[in-house]
Amino acid sequence: MIVVTAAGGATGTAVVRALWSRGEQVRAVVRSGRPHPDLTALSVDAVAADLTVPAAVEPLLAGARALYLIWPNFDPAEATGATAVLAAARRAGVPRLVYHSVLRPQARSMPHHAAKDRVEEALDRSGLAWRVLQPGAYSANLDGGLADAAVTGRFRSPWGLERAQSLVDLRDVAEAAAVLLTEDGLDGGTFEVAGPEPLTARRIAGLLGSRLGREVTAVDAAPGGPVPPVADYAAHCRRLMFDHYRAHGFAGSPRVLEALVGRPAHTFGEHLDQLEAELRSIRPAGAGELP
Ligand SMILES: NC(=O)c1ccc[n+]([C@@H]2O[C@H](COP(=O)([O-])OP(=O)(O)OC[C@H]3O[C@@H](n4cnc5c(N)ncnc54)[C@H](OP(=O)(O)O)[C@@H]3O)[C@@H](O)[C@H]2O)c1
Repeated sequence: MIVVTAAGGATGTAVVRALWSRGEQVRAVVRSGRPHPDLTALSVDAVAADLTVPAAVEPLLAGARALYLIWPNFDPAEATGATAVLAAARRAGVPRLVYHSVLRPQARSMPHHAAKDRVEEALDRSGLAWRVLQPGAYSANLDGGLADAAVTGRFRSPWGLERAQSLVDLRDVAEAAAVLLTEDGLDGGTFEVAGPEPLTARRIAGLLGSRLGREVTAVDAAPGGPVPPVADYAAHCRRLMFDHYRAHGFAGSPRVLEALVGRPAHTFGEHLDQLEAELRSIRPAGAGELP
């Protein structure tokens, strides 16, 4: 049995699905009784536990052959909380731990990256047999913005118009995670997963426009005002992240991902394929009655 934490989130659900399709037995750790229809549809063993309480997590790890440790996004407790879960995994005798990190965790200008860097350091000292996955930004992060652009004809980019991101398909992230959880010979390895093409906002708008058969323009939607205080951690991190992307981009190489999964990485166009029906059903603002 393989345990996946934060399994009700976008990443966790994708990883559970990838493991399930390989025939693996999965224990999905969610937070509470909130419904998770995607997990319910897979009929996996879903159990509720607060990740910040190691005594609640430890009993769920008994007998696991691997743990996929995902920490909730933009959570100020990640460095200490995830480190405490590592100790719980050690006590429970988990023979393999895979940590869901991020591309360039050492980027100190982004606190949620720096927290993952500290967890990676703790992992190395943990005595566990570990592997680390470092995903770039997901294509799926843009889905709301793409739907908005289908209405307005304007793709709003909070990271500006010049720099590029190697957006990675969540299906590839999940499949790479499944490889790290189930295959031998990967202990002590740190694996970057990035998409195949560094994409600027203009390129994304162009790809969407040709898909919809109408013009979509990229516009710079620079976040205004001062950086939100650290007390508003998610907003604080999000702003520093977009400032970083605006200055430096967030690009990487797909080579490691492709070696792990043994095939080419999905393109952004293939991500759009998944959304095509939904995007095509959106009527642009100002459009007349449908014929
Ligand atoms: N988005 C990206 O591009 C990207 C790229 C690289 C890395 N990452 C990393 O991927 C990780 C997961 O991100 P995500 O967006 O998939 O996750 P998410 O949407 O933030 O979901 C995380 C899940 O964590 C659960 N959760 C929250 N607090 C909890 C607690 N105290 N105890 C137990 N469960 C708790 C929630 O469960 P319930 O649903 O049960 O409430 C939620 O479904 C983050 O660490 C993020 O930094 C993301």
